[in-house]
Amino acid sequence: MKRWIDTIKQGDCIQLMAEMPEECIDLLITDPPFAIDFKAIRHNYNRKGERVLQGYNEIEGNDYLAFTLEWLSQATRVLKDSGSMYIFSGWNHLKELLIAIDFCELTTVNHLIWKYQFGVVTRRKYVTSHYHCLFVCKEDRKRQFHPFSRFDQDAKTETGGSAHYRDKEDVWEIKREYWQGAVKTPTKLPAELIEKILDYSSEKGDVVLDPFLGSGQVAVVSKMKGRHYVGFEIVPAYYEFARDRLKSGKYLIQHAEKEAEGLALFNKEDVPSFRKSRHIVIKADLS
Ligand SMILES: C[S@@+](CC[C@H](N)C(=O)[O-])C[C@H]1O[C@@H](n2cnc3c(N)ncnc32)[C@H](O)[C@@H]1O
Repeated sequence: MKRWIDTIKQGDCIQLMAEMPEECIDLLITDPPFAIDFKAIRHNYNRKGERVLQGYNEIEGNDYLAFTLEWLSQATRVLKDSGSMYIFSGWNHLKELLIAIDFCELTTVNHLIWKYQFGVVTRRKYVTSHYHCLFVCKEDRKRQFHPFSRFDQDAKTETGGSAHYRDKEDVWEIKREYWQGAVKTPTKLPAELIEKILDYSSEKGDVVLDPFLGSGQVAVVSKMKGRHYVGFEIVPAYYEFARDRLKSGKYLIQHAEKEAEGLALFNKEDVPSFRKSRHIVIKADLS
């Protein structure tokens, strides 16, 4: 297992996971392609096309069940009995993911909803502004969960309610990050979302896997939080981007010159609680 720890590799995650030993992963967080014919270069959300890295590897709708069964079987094999998985999904192919979860005999712990801003405006239907996140495990009795890792038992919300109860509700309202002026991949999970999952379902020193790494978010935030990471990405440009982020220790890489000042987040004193500094990415852009 040693050779996989704190590495990311370019390639097909199904083949790469097949090379890994059984039961070596504590936590898997992933956001596989959604089979929605996603085009990498889109100029929505005020994005400048030239700053979005091209090449997103999308899956055909008809192949989605076979593809999901294949990668999830490998992911189940490498997950420890005490491990947990968090899998993001759009609604279009949710049923294939649910079928694959049953097929792999995983237990569903929660069906979470991530509610984000920036839905695409519609005229003839409602605006989609959420993703599904399936929190599943192999052995429900063995998995770890740290219920007060983010809020003490007595902590209160602004309106006087229980803060830890509020934080553990199954609808998570978390903003997408807007990386103004930085190089980016077309889709990425916000750091705050990953941090929340790491807090509840892992400890320092655990090994976190993301087989569909994209921009490297899961590996970058895991590293910032003292977890070990393993990651795979099939598109060379995305892999290189994730590798550069991990190597440079910068959360954002600026467009023109990669050596431009970013915010060095990997120093101990900089490891933030995203809850305390919700707008950390925007601050980084302004620096
Ligand atoms: C929805 S994106 C992940 C975004 C990522 N969570 C982030 O925050 O940047 C899915 C990624 O999976 C990659 N991908 C698709 N098929 C793959 C495969 N078989 N092996 C590895 N990566 C793959 C795509 O190129 C894409 O970058």
